[in-house]
Amino acid sequence: MHFYEEKVLPFIIDKACSMGQILKLRQQVVPRAKGVVLEVGMGSGINLQYYDAGQVSLVYGLEPSEGMRRKAANNVAAAPVPVEWVDLPGEAIPLADNSVDTVLLTFTLCTIPDAKAALAQMKRVLKPDGELLFLEHGQSSDARVHTWQNRITPTWKRFAGGCHLNRPIDVLIREAGFEVTELETLYVPGAPKIAGYVYQGRATNPDG
Ligand SMILES: C[S@@+](CC[C@H](N)C(=O)[O-])C[C@H]1O[C@@H](n2cnc3c(N)ncnc32)[C@H](O)[C@@H]1O
Repeated sequence: MHFYEEKVLPFIIDKACSMGQILKLRQQVVPRAKGVVLEVGMGSGINLQYYDAGQVSLVYGLEPSEGMRRKAANNVAAAPVPVEWVDLPGEAIPLADNSVDTVLLTFTLCTIPDAKAALAQMKRVLKPDGELLFLEHGQSSDARVHTWQNRITPTWKRFAGGCHLNRPIDVLIREAGFEVTELETLYVPGAPKIAGYVYQGRATNPDG
């Protein structure tokens, strides 16, 4: 499994996450990032091209998989903003309290084993006036699709790096204490419905 996860999966994930319709969604979300950014589960760095160099000073790319970091090398080299790797999981963010202006989460909350602990860490490092930007796939609002997501997830996650198809993204973000200030849900055109129900939005820390 180690060979598959470190050598094969980074290519599969990079391809799947670079579909044209997904890139269009990334282009709507990523340019909203400002200041010091923490991108959790940065993967192959597909988002890097969309950061606005005029308003982002540094991106911490938190990514525990060495294979994904290797796959990201070209995107990091071509990035319009400085990038610093953090090779730890989202449950153990090694940054100070209130130290980042933006946390960016794209297609990552599905995979983090302890999503609640990771979100608590993101809230901890976010500045009081900072923002969590998210673009995540998860639990469909359509009961039939959700039933299939529940059926398929146990097998799917074994081959998809731990990805859950059925996480209720907005609920998880709210339960972590964030206030969701903007939320849109949609099926990514052309993607299978079980994996293509997307939550896109922004959230703030009301305790900040
Ligand atoms: C589907 S990929 C998405 C990558 C990237 N965010 C994107 O939008 O293309 C999920 C990423 O989450 C990373 N990941 C897995 N476990 C994690 C954890 N505990 N904390 C942070 N990231 C994790 C994986 O290594 C992988 O790069």
